[in-house]
Amino acid sequence: MAALYPRWSNTVYRLALLGILLGAASAIAGPMLYVRSTYNTSQFTPYEQPVEFDHRHHARDDGIECLYCHSAAERSSNAGVPSTGVCMGCHAQVYKDSPLLATVRQSYFTGTPINWKRVHDLPDFVYFDHSVHIARGFDCSACHGDVGMMARVEQVQPLTMGWCIDCHTVEHTTLPNDAWEASMQMLITAPTRKPEITSLVTCTACHR
Ligand code: HEC
Ligand code: HEC
Ligand code: HEC
Ligand code: HEC
Ligand code: HEC
Repeated sequence: MAALYPRWSNTVYRLALLGILLGAASAIAGPMLYVRSTYNTSQFTPYEQPVEFDHRHHARDDGIECLYCHSAAERSSNAGVPSTGVCMGCHAQVYKDSPLLATVRQSYFTGTPINWKRVHDLPDFVYFDHSVHIARGFDCSACHGDVGMMARVEQVQPLTMGWCIDCHTVEHTTLPNDAWEASMQMLITAPTRKPEITSLVTCTACHR
C-alpha cells in the first residue's frame, strides 16, 4: 500500500508524542521536585543578620560551649537565641568600643532585643522539642552540622517530615553520643529500619 504520509512523518509523530509525554511528566514531577529542593527548604542559605555575629570566633576559637548561649536547648522545646545581656557579659570588656558591636550596646542600653533573623523555622503545625533530643545524647551537629565552622549559620539538613521520620525509624541503641557521622552511616546501612519506639512515628508525636 502506498504510504499516505512519508516515512519520516512517523518519526516526527513519535518525537511529538515523546515531547508531550516528557512535558506531562515534568509538569507532574516538577512541583514534586520543587518542594524537596533546597529553594523551598531554604537549605544552605546564609542570612544577613543585624550584627555580624560569627560562630567561628566564639564557638571554635574561644571554645565557648553551645549551651552557654543556647542553654534553653537542654530544658525546653526551643534552643533560643541569647539575650544581649549574655553578649555584654563579655563585651562590656572585650572589644567594648568596637563599631561592630554598636548595635549590641544600643540594644543593651535601650532594652530593645536584637532582631535576629530566624534560620531554622518549622511550620507552626509541627511540634519539635530540643530537650528530648539533647537528653537522648544527640550532639547539636546531628541536626545543625558544624556550626562552629560557620561565619553565618546555614540550615544544612532538609528539616522535612521524611528527614525526621528517617531518624525516628532507626535503631539508636548503639549510637555513640557525639557521632554525627556514625548516625548518618546508620541511616544508610541500618539493616532493620524498625521504629525503636512506635510512638515516634505516630502522627500526633509531631502534630499535636
Ligand atoms: C556567644 C554566644 C553563642 C555561642 C557560644 C553559640 N551561639 Fe549559636 N547563635 C548565637 C546567636 C547570637 C545566634 C543568632 C544569630 C545567628 O544566626 O548567627 C545564634 C544562632 C544559632 C543557630 C541558628 C538559629 C536559627 O535562627 O535557626 C544555630 C543552629 C546555632 N546558633 C547553634 C549553635 C551551636 C551548635 C553552637 C555551638 C557549636 C552555638 N550555636 C554557639 C549565639 C551563640
Ligand atoms: C564568653 C565571652 C563572649 C560572649 C558571651 C560573647 N562574645 Fe563576642 N567576642 C568574644 C571574643 C573573645 C571576641 C574576639 C574573637 C576574635 O577576635 O577571635 C568576640 C568578638 C565579637 C565580635 C567581633 C568584634 C570585632 O570588632 O571584631 C562581634 C560582632 C561579637 N563578638 C558579637 C557578640 C554577640 C552578638 C554576642 C552575644 C550573642 C557575643 N559576641 C557574646 C567574646 C564573647
Ligand atoms: C534532633 C535534631 C536537633 C538537634 C539535636 C538540635 N537541634 Fe536545634 N533545631 C532543630 C530544629 C528542627 C529546629 C527548628 C525548630 C522550629 O522551627 O520549631 C532547631 C532550631 C534551633 C535554633 C533556633 C531557635 C529555636 O529556639 O528554635 C537554635 C538556636 C538551635 N536549634 C540550636 C541548637 C543547639 C545549640 C543544639 C545543641 C545543644 C541543637 N540545636 C540541637 C533540630 C535540632
Ligand atoms: C538524629 C535523629 C533524630 C532526628 C533528626 C529527629 N529526631 Fe525526634 N527523636 C529522636 C529520638 C531517638 C527520640 C526519642 C527520644 C527519647 O524518648 O528518648 C526523638 C523524640 C522526638 C519527640 C518526642 C516524642 C515523644 O512522644 O516523646 C518529638 C516530638 C520529636 N522527636 C520530633 C522530631 C521532629 C519534628 C523532627 C524533625 C524536625 C525530629 N524529631 C528529628 C531522634 C531524632
Ligand atoms: C517525626 C515527626 C513527624 C511525624 C511522626 C509526622 N510528621 Fe507530618 N510533618 C513533619 C514535619 C517536620 C513537617 C513539615 C515539613 C514538611 O512539610 O516536610 C510535616 C508536614 C506534614 C504535612 C504537610 C505536608 C506539606 O506538604 O506541607 C502533613 C499533611 C503531615 N505532615 C501529615 C502527617 C501524618 C498524616 C502523619 C502520620 C502518619 C505525620 N505527618 C507524622 C513531621 C512529622
